Formats: sequence, structure tokens, C-alpha cells
Amino acid sequence: MTVILGIETSCDETAAAVVVDGRTILSNIVASQIELHRQYGGVFPEMASREHVKALLPVVTAAVQEADVDWDELDAVAVTAGPGLAGSLLVGVNAAKGLAFWRGLPLVGVNHLEGHIYSNWIETEGNRPEKVFPVLVLIVSGGHTELVLMRDHGRYQRLGGTIDDAAGEAFDKVARLLALGYPGGPAIQHAAREGNPRAFDLPRAWLPGTHDFSFSGLKTAVLRQVQQYEGQDASTSRRLTPGRSLPPELVADLAASFQEAVVDVLVAKTCAAAEQFSATEICVCGGVAANAHLRAAFLQQAPVPVSIPPLYLCTDNAVMIAAAGHYRYRAGYRSRLDLDVVANLPLAADNKTVQEMQV
Ligand code: KG4
Ligand code: ZN
Repeated sequence: MTVILGIETSCDETAAAVVVDGRTILSNIVASQIELHRQYGGVFPEMASREHVKALLPVVTAAVQEADVDWDELDAVAVTAGPGLAGSLLVGVNAAKGLAFWRGLPLVGVNHLEGHIYSNWIETEGNRPEKVFPVLVLIVSGGHTELVLMRDHGRYQRLGGTIDDAAGEAFDKVARLLALGYPGGPAIQHAAREGNPRAFDLPRAWLPGTHDFSFSGLKTAVLRQVQQYEGQDASTSRRLTPGRSLPPELVADLAASFQEAVVDVLVAKTCAAAEQFSATEICVCGGVAANAHLRAAFLQQAPVPVSIPPLYLCTDNAVMIAAAGHYRYRAGYRSRLDLDVVANLPLAADNKTVQEMQV
């Protein structure tokens, strides 16, 4: 049995969790900074790091207390080393080093994307943690849209990803265009409930012959609709704040049509890749996996079983970092105390992307 303390500070959530054997949650504490960043319409990096500094120790203490474990019962400290905001990552990594050094515990650096992937291995109601490889993974978050073939624990083959905006980023930008606020994903989903998904025939970038995605053309198409309604010409759009005067029915129709276009492409391309690579299962993860329409479409259309974590494990959390840390720990990976953060850390095929040694 391994008991891992996970720490996550890559963006705007300060999180800590204790997880047994990579699947059983003993505690899950998340301090969200959403309210703070809402006034800026997005994450303000400087403020995010400062908030992490303030929140981290109380969050870690609460995670250990709620798990009802003694520090001596922990086997390792797992922490997100990238990708993410460098200043935010540093807060978690430095704290994890301090805790590991203080308690004489192994330190395990984890890739945030690998964390999202392992949210599908957590024991929750309706989830099947036992999986047969290869598994096809779609990571859809605020910063990433990646299609990955997972051949074994820690073995990832990147098939493709977005060539411009991430899916979550597109939700956030379109929400801003429609004056729906931040974070955009939940706001669009909410507005779309009253809208007609076929009201606007928005473009879908199929990028045939690739496993890549593109969402910037779709975002521009929404902007054009907003401008058309507001009578602006494209060249003046940057000086004006679009979306403020749109009628609610138009906002709902644009939100629903946009959401439909994103979901159509994500689901169709993921299902096609699952068939092409004979995956036994599709695992969807990341903040956008919280989207109700995306979840329903996958469950309806997928040619193989689909695993999507419950909402609280889709958005950033430390349970998934502890879970990914468990598999790295089990495979013998230990990070050195000079572990550094890497803002654009890729999900590497050989799983050796952070300074570490195999013991
Ligand atoms: O995984 P996450 O919490 O953070 C990153 O690692 O980026 O993902 C955050 C992203 C945001 O872009 C947010 O708008 C999006 O996930 N999101 C959603 C929904 N809930 C969160 N997008 C669509 N529908 C949702 N219900
Ligand atoms: Zn994330």
C-alpha cells in the first residue's frame, strides 16, 4: 500500500490531497482563486503566486488532517512540476521539497497533464479503475487540448493537439466576446441551455489526416456574428467591447452553436482515433471534460466504453497529482531536491521530463 500526499499549484487552484494506491481518496482540499481573478477576466499570474503562498500551508495541513494520517504514514510527496505558470508552480514545488526534506520522504515531480490523465484511475461511483491498454486519452483544459495514446502506465504517444487555442481557452475567449464572464466554460454551458445549437452554422476545423484541432477560426466566426449584430466593421472591433448589448436570445443561440461545434469536433476526432488505434477505452479529462454536452455526446457516440471523472476531478485538484505520483513512485522514479519547474513541460514518451532518478 502506498500513501501519497499530492500538491498542485500550477494555475489558480491551491490544492493538496492524500490518496492511497493511486485510487482511493482520503482527502481532497482545493482553495480556488476564481473570485479573485474574476475581476480581471482571467488569471493574473503575479497574484496567483501570492495567493498560493498564503493558502498552501493551511491547505496541506487540512489535507493531512482530513485524511487522518500521521506524517510517518506517508510514502512520498508528489508535486506538479509543470506545465503551468512558473511563479505558481514554484510555490508548490518549494513547499513539497521542504516537506520531503523535513520528513525524510521521497519527492516525486509530476506532469500536470499526466495528473489529468490519472483522474480517470480514481475510484469514484460509476468509474472503472481497471483498464486494459491501449487507452485513448483526450485532455481538454484551459491550456491544453491533446490526443494521447497511452500504451501502459507512464507510456504516452502524443497523436495530436491544438494548433492554436486550447478548447478551454476558446470557451473562455468566446464567453468574453458574449460578455458572459469568467470562467467561460461553465458560463457558456449555462447560456447554451436556452439556445438553439443549429441557429448558427459555425465552422468546424476537421484538419483531415491529422489528430490535430483548431479553434481560433471558430472563435473568429463568433466575433463576426457579434460584430454583424452590433454593426461594427472588423477593423474597429479591437477598440470596442463587444457583446455588451446583445439580446439574451442571441447570446444563448451563439453559445449553443459554439458549444455544439467544439463538441462535434472533439468527439468525432477522438472516436475516430480510438477506432484507428484499437483502443479499449476512451478517457476524457481536464476542465472542459466537466461540460455536460461533451459528456453526453461521448457517452452516446463512442465506439468503446468512455471514462469521464466526476466534475470535482475534472478541474484542477491534487488528487490526480497524488494518483499520477503513485504510478511514478511505484515505477521507481524519485525527483532530486534540485527539481525545477518547467512552464511548458511536455508529456514525454519516456516519462523522464523532470529531474529525477530511477531507484
Ligand atoms: O483543467 P483546468 O481546471 O485548468 C487547466 O489546467 O487549464 O481547466 C480549466 C478550463 C477553463 O478554460 C474553463 O473554462 C474550462 O476548463 N471549463 C469548462 C467547463 N468547466 C470548466 N469548459 C466547458 N464547460 C464546462 N462546464
Ligand atoms: Zn489542469
